[in-house]
Amino acid sequence: MGNSQILACLIQDKVLINRIKELVKKCDKDVKLLIFKKSEELLDKIDDDRIDLVFIDKDLAGEDFREVLQNIKNDFPYVVRILLAESWSQQLVLMTNDIVHLILEKKYLEENLNDLFIKAEKLGSLLQNKDLVKLINSFDSLPVLQPLYIELLQMIQSSDVSLKKIGELIESDISLSTRVLQVANMSVFAHIGRISSTKQAVVFLGLNVIRALILYIQVFSFDSNNSHFYKYLKQLEKHCLKVAETSKAISIDYNVNRMMQDDCFTAGLLHDIGKLVIMTKLENWEQILEHAHQSNIPVWKAENEILGTSHAEIGAYLLGVWGFPTEIIDAVAYHHKPLNSKKDFYLPLTFVHIAEAMTQAEDIIDEDTFYSYLDFEYLNKLNIKDKTINFYKNFTRKGETQIIDELDDEV
Ligand SMILES: [Fe+2]
Ligand SMILES: [Fe+2]
Repeated sequence: MGNSQILACLIQDKVLINRIKELVKKCDKDVKLLIFKKSEELLDKIDDDRIDLVFIDKDLAGEDFREVLQNIKNDFPYVVRILLAESWSQQLVLMTNDIVHLILEKKYLEENLNDLFIKAEKLGSLLQNKDLVKLINSFDSLPVLQPLYIELLQMIQSSDVSLKKIGELIESDISLSTRVLQVANMSVFAHIGRISSTKQAVVFLGLNVIRALILYIQVFSFDSNNSHFYKYLKQLEKHCLKVAETSKAISIDYNVNRMMQDDCFTAGLLHDIGKLVIMTKLENWEQILEHAHQSNIPVWKAENEILGTSHAEIGAYLLGVWGFPTEIIDAVAYHHKPLNSKKDFYLPLTFVHIAEAMTQAEDIIDEDTFYSYLDFEYLNKLNIKDKTINFYKNFTRKGETQIIDELDDEV
């Protein structure tokens, strides 16, 4: 997708059409707008033209919006599908989960449209990978969108988001609030001071960190009868928390602003979420691990060889659908090959990549492992190769990794 995007709308309501026309004129991106009143015309146009994204109005007369979305998904899976709805309900999310990329409430169109184009562009670029699309479309539903998380997303999406209400929502689930507090009191958040209530946690950690924490806690909190699966799941959970903590610690040392430090934590927490999808949705996940082990290659390379895509792209796609900011999506998409991001400045990606290498090296206790996980070309491009190596040496010398281990046991 170049700089301009082609947006096709299936909308019959004149007032809504005019609002979108006005908004597109004013928006930062170069967007070409096409309006259709019948799905047949829209589908014909997608067939002949390069359409990047579609807006489908939920309230269509004489058409079933679900059928239209399903047809677009089947025939043109690379097109980003956005549903415009009067209101965002849990029922609607569950009903459209497998056919819609994003849902937008009509009343928030004005404040969200620019951001939506950026997110759609990111999703669109992921959807260029045919193997990824095939894999995702083979799932009967997207994983783990639990009611509490959906409610939280809905609150965050509204323009008058109330931190107090979000605190109360978390408090309504005792085990969730206990874990939110444990994580909020980890050493990397020490500058905030002791946090004793979930309401304080929401205010001090910010919405992105809280949202990632809830997702992380919910996705890792299921039991399994398969002991191998369960053991691997627990290892993965510990690894994600360690990468989150380490990437935030590195970003503090590299003097980035507070917002980016928190994004590093968020991205670290979710960076391997695609592995969880592979484990829960694909029967051959053990075969992939075995292939990695036998060929002595990292798991993401084994995934690429077997699936044509990896947990990094699967995770990035899901976070895109779940509405995370593009910096977080990029950190997840490129955490093993940051050079592919084509960016040469500090991003959460930079620190998640280094933290991943440090965490892998620590598990295997091997300096060579640390180097083997690093993308040196990328570090050179940012001019931080020496700094990163020195940071790693000082970090391990200071025994900070031990502190991380102790904290892990607490959580
Ligand atoms: Fe990882
Ligand atoms: Fe990974």
